[in-house]
Amino acid sequence: MSEPVTILGIETSCDETAAACVMGGADVLSSVVSSQIDLHAQFGGVVPEIASRAHVELVVPVIARAVVEAGIEDRRIDAIAATVGPGLIGALLVGVSTAKALALVWDVPFVGVNHLEAHLYAALLEDPNLTLPVVVLLVSGGHTMLVSMDGHGQYRLLGQTIDDAAGEAFDKVARYLGLGYPGGPAIDRDARKGDPDAIHFPRAMLDDGLDFSFSGLKTAVVNHVRKHPEVETADVAASFQRAVVDVLVTKARRAAAEVGATAIALGGGVAANSLLREELLRACDADGRRAFLPSPSMCTDNAAMIAATGWYRLRSDGPTPLDHGADPNLRLPVR
Ligand code: KG4
Ligand code: ZN
Repeated sequence: MSEPVTILGIETSCDETAAACVMGGADVLSSVVSSQIDLHAQFGGVVPEIASRAHVELVVPVIARAVVEAGIEDRRIDAIAATVGPGLIGALLVGVSTAKALALVWDVPFVGVNHLEAHLYAALLEDPNLTLPVVVLLVSGGHTMLVSMDGHGQYRLLGQTIDDAAGEAFDKVARYLGLGYPGGPAIDRDARKGDPDAIHFPRAMLDDGLDFSFSGLKTAVVNHVRKHPEVETADVAASFQRAVVDVLVTKARRAAAEVGATAIALGGGVAANSLLREELLRACDADGRRAFLPSPSMCTDNAAMIAATGWYRLRSDGPTPLDHGADPNLRLPVR
């Protein structure tokens, strides 16, 4: 295939319907994200059936807008990439079926993309000169991982959560504090009004390897608020956020030192957290490493990262057969 190749990416793994056109794996021509937050907020979390139905309604208009905003004729799209997992199966199937149908009609290759790999690529997408190996701290609603990205498609899992994901902890604590959904941005906002040193919450497994544990922290928050009902919510939010960020940054630093990486990148929705970004930058400055912080809109779910990953996967593996299904439990291919 002659370069550069324009890829239409489609993302429907959870509660964002997204489409993007990316040229040459790095040049984002358009990136459209339609969030379903308002639909799910009243239930305090994502309702899978509602998500699937909303994707069905939104996916075609979102793709149409991405194609128009990219300023290209649909005939000049060279391949279609879609998230095949992990995620909610009903939601994934909407994007995968749409991508396959378009691939058939337009007679272009289909590329199935791993959502977790795409979060790793989001950092690369905004800085194609990033030199590998790089340690990526991938922190999303469903995953918390430290990965050494040694080459394209070559990943080593250095550590992961043994219970809740970091984003899940943000969402559960925010719900308990009555701050609404999604919890991460709500805590990020409220924490700015609070004192991060007001309460010392536990930092589980801080001195212990590269794995994480967040479920005890959530319990500690609940116990503290029960014991001190007069406590300021903003102080709880700020102290909780400080505890999560302390652990994430300490372990990311340790991981980079262990593998001799000269850079740390952030990926996943929690990477949009303002304190995490500040603290990681500070730590990297102190250690003489580079920090790659994708813009917040590239951290949360989007289709530009799907199209960029699709470009690399198409080059390395070729098209994905059209009988390849969606896999809600797909794992990152690690060594
Ligand atoms: O990557 P993502 O958009 O979806 C998944 O693949 O899970 O991540 C969503 C998660 C949610 O748990 C949300 O609360 C969290 O990312 N999040 C944040 C922030 N923005 C989103 N967590 C902390 N601070 C934020 N600013
Ligand atoms: Zn995600």
